[in-house]
Amino acid sequence: MYKIFETVDDVSRYTAQRLLAKIQAMPRAILGLATGSTMEPVYAKMLQDLQHQPLDVSQLTTFNLDEYIGLSAQHPQSYNYYMHQHLFNQFKIPEHNVHLPDGLAADIEQACLAYSSAIQSRGGLDLQLLGIGSNGHIGFNEPQTCFNSRTHVVELSEQTRIDNGRFFSDQNEMPTHAITMGILDILEAKEIILVATGPNKTDIMAQLFHSAVDEALPASALKQHSNLTIVLDREAAAALPEHALNSVI
Ligand code: GLP
Repeated sequence: MYKIFETVDDVSRYTAQRLLAKIQAMPRAILGLATGSTMEPVYAKMLQDLQHQPLDVSQLTTFNLDEYIGLSAQHPQSYNYYMHQHLFNQFKIPEHNVHLPDGLAADIEQACLAYSSAIQSRGGLDLQLLGIGSNGHIGFNEPQTCFNSRTHVVELSEQTRIDNGRFFSDQNEMPTHAITMGILDILEAKEIILVATGPNKTDIMAQLFHSAVDEALPASALKQHSNLTIVLDREAAAALPEHALNSVI
């Protein structure tokens, strides 16, 4: 199902409300969370809404999608740092319920196995929030990732290194590898919300719309999911065919 809104603000308000409604209905929910610039206004809206709509988050559990290899939790570009800065410093989930892949794990392969197992042992994700890379990646699952994958190490594509390099003051500091939940981990979530905004996402959203389920476009795996909402602003939806827009707005 597509939900298309005029502005980023509208997209963020809608997405934040979906997350808060989930928490209200399921205080013990297992949430899959995402990073990236798309999610910043979503988390900001959640925090804003929580000022008027207090919620008990003490029983929530979260698993983030991915993390760079080689960055500590204190590194300002690590996803661990991002999540604390944009959400967890104010959204007081007990720290032991917050999970991110460990980019400094001594045994990375073991850490990957343990991450997927930890999700499964809690009964899987109740809701997974996703952004999308300009090459169609979800998490850090780059094109040609196997759709049966679990949490694993990836070498970042050149496109991703260019896209995400903008966050690093020195491009050479941009990691070459990351840990990401696998596509199968994501697909096993009971509910998925994918959010894309702005002109950088126009082309990939049109490609995704037209694509078959194909490992060349990781996000196309989501077309197999029975409870998917794709939330777009006008700009990200700009190249969807007219008939699609008419039917979804
Ligand atoms: C990174 C993250 C993805 C995210 C993507 C989009 O690569 N690993 O999970 O979806 O960026 O980021 P942005 O929202 O900044 O466009």
